[in-house]
Amino acid sequence: MSNFEKGPVQKILWRLKKDGFLKTVQYLLNRSSIRNEQILAEKEASSWNDHFFEALGIERTAAEELLQETRNKIPVLDEDVHVKSQKQQSTHLLAFAALKVAGFSPENILEIGTYLGFTTSLLSHLFPEARIYTVALPSDDPVFDDYHILDGQGVDNVFEQRLGRPNITVIKKNSGFLWEEELPGFDLIWLDGGHQYPVVAWDHFYSLSKLRSGGWLFSDDIVMPGSDGKSKNNPRFDAYHTVEYYSKRLQNKFEYLLKREDAATFMYAKKFVAYVHKNN
Ligand SMILES: C[S@@+](CC[C@H](N)C(=O)[O-])C[C@H]1O[C@@H](n2cnc3c(N)ncnc32)[C@H](O)[C@@H]1O
Repeated sequence: MSNFEKGPVQKILWRLKKDGFLKTVQYLLNRSSIRNEQILAEKEASSWNDHFFEALGIERTAAEELLQETRNKIPVLDEDVHVKSQKQQSTHLLAFAALKVAGFSPENILEIGTYLGFTTSLLSHLFPEARIYTVALPSDDPVFDDYHILDGQGVDNVFEQRLGRPNITVIKKNSGFLWEEELPGFDLIWLDGGHQYPVVAWDHFYSLSKLRSGGWLFSDDIVMPGSDGKSKNNPRFDAYHTVEYYSKRLQNKFEYLLKREDAATFMYAKKFVAYVHKNN
């Protein structure tokens, strides 16, 4: 149960246990201003991404309906921690459904970072005419265990259930060696591999070099540093620095979507999905 769903007494007991007596009293005194902040956050978070749907000239509800319909076609696994909760789902899924509603029809799609293939499978159902290349870290790569709860065999079993569709090609390779593959230009790229240096920098380099005119690149898990400039070199911000570095030099700049639209995440753990539409 999330904290937003608990009743008032449960919330106070939870806080007493977590923070102790003094902090709980302080919280109770400040409760109404915190609630106001929550209401503001709910409002801001729920309208943050409107610009994306407006620019596409579509109704957000149409994308939501298509996403729900498409999600129902994908087998759900115990390991799908984030994708299970509709409220906390990542906006990239809705953005892809929105592109489909807007009539976007990609020929080639690239995903860097397959994990358990949820997005790969969704893309394959949304765009059955497209060829989808997904880059999965090989299980003997030295950093495989940093990312995966399942072992190599477990991941292969999941791939069998989800990725055995005719328009999906799995490339088992560290993305740092993608230059060894002869791949086409891409109309849609979902960049979602390692989010720290050096991986995040070469993934953006490769993706931008392979993005076709008219194509869309979406880059996941962008955390922005606070305005105080502290922790500038924290690896959490590597993806943001990479995106901004390129944006300063690109004709088409990156823009941002709020990754999760629930108020709690908005207030305490905001993340973004950066995207660029190459229209030159
Ligand atoms: C956040 S998960 C991807 C989730 C998936 N794209 C989705 O939307 O369902 C990140 C994945 O990137 C992979 N990864 C990390 N570094 C990589 C690299 N250098 N090359 C290829 N894949 C990498 C990890 O193995 C992990 O499976």
